Amino acid sequence: MRKLKVSGYLLWIVVLLLTACAADSWSPVAGSTELLKDASWTCGSGNTTKDGALVIAAGNEFRAYVNIYGPRLITQGDFGVAVTLSAAQENLAAFSLVGRLGTSAWWDQGRKLDVGLEEGQIIVNYYNGASFMPNVTQTFAVDGLSGKVKLELRRVGAEFVVFANGKEIGRMAAVDAFPDGFAYFGASVRPNNALTLYDLTVTAPPENTAVAVDFSGGAAYTPTEPPLRTLADARHLLVGGAVEPQHILCDKTYAEVLGREFNILVTENAFKFWPIHPEPGRYDFTGSDTVVEYAEAHDMRIRGHTLVWHQSTPDWINNATFTQEQWNEVLQEHITTIVSRYKGRVDYWDVVNEAISESGSGGLRKTVWSTGVGADYVDKAFTWAHAADPEALLFYNDYGAEGLNPKSDQVYALVKDMVARGVPIHGVGLQMHVAPGTAPKPEDLLANIQRLGALGLQVHITELDVRLPSNVTESMLTLQANLYQELLEVCLSADNCTAFVMWGFTDRYSWIPGSASGYDHALIFDKAYRPKPAYFALRKALEMKQSLGPEDFGASCNCAP
Ligand code: G3I
Repeated sequence: MRKLKVSGYLLWIVVLLLTACAADSWSPVAGSTELLKDASWTCGSGNTTKDGALVIAAGNEFRAYVNIYGPRLITQGDFGVAVTLSAAQENLAAFSLVGRLGTSAWWDQGRKLDVGLEEGQIIVNYYNGASFMPNVTQTFAVDGLSGKVKLELRRVGAEFVVFANGKEIGRMAAVDAFPDGFAYFGASVRPNNALTLYDLTVTAPPENTAVAVDFSGGAAYTPTEPPLRTLADARHLLVGGAVEPQHILCDKTYAEVLGREFNILVTENAFKFWPIHPEPGRYDFTGSDTVVEYAEAHDMRIRGHTLVWHQSTPDWINNATFTQEQWNEVLQEHITTIVSRYKGRVDYWDVVNEAISESGSGGLRKTVWSTGVGADYVDKAFTWAHAADPEALLFYNDYGAEGLNPKSDQVYALVKDMVARGVPIHGVGLQMHVAPGTAPKPEDLLANIQRLGALGLQVHITELDVRLPSNVTESMLTLQANLYQELLEVCLSADNCTAFVMWGFTDRYSWIPGSASGYDHALIFDKAYRPKPAYFALRKALEMKQSLGPEDFGASCNCAP
């Protein structure tokens, strides 16, 4: 009887030991102990390091930080993420696994799982992209949480298992946070709190070898020959894309593709009033310098976008109550300061952007500039820019004025008048944000470019992108490729069309998903930097021995037999 009791105890001990061993058999995934050392965590993010730990602080607003430049977790099967962290516990501070990035706002259409501390408890929040509030919240009470806390979240089958300081503290149903099979790392921090991460590791059970850390961040770029810029140089054409300084600094593949493929770039936002001149008398050239220095180092020409626009102005301009004289001083000083700084370095300026009214019939749009400086603000802007750098070529840039239509007639009338009065203008930028079906007819585009040429003006295609539905198909990508090729062929066929510039170059960072709901895939490299059919279509157009002539573009052709 006594023997039986003893062997019963032994059996229990064996079972307990086996269970403990099974839990401990999860181990760090190869390379994942290096995760926090990746330079991406501090690149351009405002995060800092202290004694080897990473500090992710919020200012006076909620911080939803995602390390988009860093390694990604491949979320196959069962996996865990283990961190050691500390934060002020009355206020949320959590590490995040972001299965999908938000578009127009951090939460919009995103997927994010937060695991952290709040009010002395462990909290798990899941945001499904429908709201800035979590749609699943679960808290776990744990005694004596203070200082450094070790947290681990494991996905085991259909459950999330949460551990604190090495002990399981609860379970919940696993939510569908990783629909694309990967997760970015990040953090959510309430205002005035800071999260310190001491370590971060991905774990997996021995039988799951599929879970991994992808240190490339999802990039799959393989250079192909020849680069577009080599072909474009041979055709005396500038071909390029809009860029953001932070991507240049923090995304190695972005910087590699940009310099390899293009001979011109344009600043997507860095030269706009708001980032460059945020307060009266204070300029911030950090972003613009990064872009200009990059272009110079890669022998690329530069378009500066844009000196005068009614959008992206800071509040000190939006809410100003200046006299007309003061408005003139402010704008002249702004233009002179920026153009002088980059004299001889920025080749082309979009001096005035989108000044023609939306309706296409009402002449100049009413803006802070037209009311503040006066109706002659366009002339003045060009004159001031020319005075600051007489060698730079100065452009008027607009959208919806690419083909032949009332708006392009207005643009034509505006610049014709400027030319006639001797205002220093050298070119017109045709933005070209289109979709298959909304692009101008090639013969109209050509006719528009040629009538501007007859005024002695150059034309740049300045912001080309061809948006497609988010649920894209092969045939849509083919349509897109055909359109890219057709537009480039038109540009190549007109002597005064001297630059072909897209609004970005990779779908990874395009403005389209964030502003045109349901659309995406607008550029020539996909989100992993793989060249798309549109890329090869551009190559084909550039490789054609001879440019097409006006007769190749149909209706408006006035060609002699
Ligand atoms: O970087 C800031 C970030 O620090 C801040 O916290 C956040 C909060 O709003 O904003 C971020 O800035 C955003 C910026 O893009 C950089 O991502 C601005 O909000 C956002 O308004 C801005 O949008 C840009 C938009 O112009 C307005 O300036 C787009 O990226 C840019 O693609 C778009 O470009 C325009 C051309 O200049 C003119 N033609 C049309 C084209 C598309 O709208």
